[in-house]
Amino acid sequence: MEKPVLGYAMCGSFCTFDRAIQQMQVLKDIGYEIVPIMSETAANTDTRFGRANDFMWKAEDITGRAPICSITGAEPLGPKHMIDMLVVSPCTGNTLAKLANGITDTPVTAS
Ligand SMILES: Cc1cc2nc3c(=O)[nH]c(=O)nc-3n(C[C@H](O)[C@H](O)[C@H](O)COP(=O)(O)O)c2cc1C
Repeated sequence: MEKPVLGYAMCGSFCTFDRAIQQMQVLKDIGYEIVPIMSETAANTDTRFGRANDFMWKAEDITGRAPICSITGAEPLGPKHMIDMLVVSPCTGNTLAKLANGITDTPVTAS
């Protein structure tokens, strides 16, 4: 059986990034292929919790793929059946509200 492909999307709850990256590693270790996705906020904001680029590199190191961090990058995921399921972790209130209202203006909500 082919390995399931998991989209792993990170939003801008920066204090939880270390744990989110740890969970990404756990999911990789138990056999998932992972497509990393980051909201523009997550991909572009340096905070006291770390530099955006460092988290991008960590996600790429774990998954072997550069994170998708644009709507144009995320758009094919559905139509081309590139992922089997999607985890949003961390999910901000901002992204949750958008998902609840069908707003698709970030790479995460467009995934
Ligand atoms: C240091 C820092 C920590 C934040 N932590 C949270 C958080 O824990 N939960 C949350 O909903 N938003 C948090 N935010 C606000 C989000 O980053 C902000 O709402 C942003 O627009 C989210 O965009 P996104 O959902 O596209 O990633 C934080 C912002 C900063 C700068």
